[in-house]
Amino acid sequence: MASQDELKQIAANRAAEFVESDMVVGLGSGSTANFAIQRIAERIKSGGLKNIVGIPSSARTEKLATELGIPLVGFDEKQQIDITIDGADEVDPQLNLIKGGGGALLREKVVAQASRQNIIIVDDSKLSAHLGTKWALPVEVIPFAGKTEASFLKSLGASVSIRSQGDGAIFKTDQNNLILDADFGPITDLAKLAAQLDGRAGIVEHGLFLELASDVIVAESNGIRHLKRNEN
Ligand code: A5P
Repeated sequence: MASQDELKQIAANRAAEFVESDMVVGLGSGSTANFAIQRIAERIKSGGLKNIVGIPSSARTEKLATELGIPLVGFDEKQQIDITIDGADEVDPQLNLIKGGGGALLREKVVAQASRQNIIIVDDSKLSAHLGTKWALPVEVIPFAGKTEASFLKSLGASVSIRSQGDGAIFKTDQNNLILDADFGPITDLAKLAAQLDGRAGIVEHGLFLELASDVIVAESNGIRHLKRNEN
């Protein structure tokens, strides 16, 4: 049976086939997206892909893509992305997502909303009937507001923890903000919760990606499924 990493790689390799020469490519963040970035770099190196530029969705992705020789640009140079390949933490049957397990949700959402096509790559452990069942919702907040936003999230029914790093220090995003992981359990009204979080000063962004994924490629031990949002 394939390991979780092998499944991630299978999904990533399939998604990388959708990248064509001359495209502006959004480069996601996280372990699954990293496999896609490696595959894109291989295709550039072998001459199969020409004139590609990437827009990275995190400082870590920027570093990896640079090391692998993928030419990068920012939104100053290109405002429209042809295709983005990114991972997710949880995917529901309507292809709504929870993202932000790696803390890159803000830039990931900026990249996703600037993309014509958003391909999400996951192994089947990420599929879930209701978002919030498997993963607490990451919420990025400015440090000034950390405690008051934690209280606000609790008032909406979540149990909340401030994210720390492996060494116990408080985790800081690429924007130097905090992540509050808000465990709501299965979220019954995604649009309502997203609107409540969008409307709150001090919350910079949250990990609910609603109607942003156009495709989800799921690798499972008995094969690959390619789900398309408009066909769901
Ligand atoms: C990064 O902030 C996230 O949104 C990742 O895309 C997500 O956590 C999936 O990561 P893995 O591919 O490492 O599971």
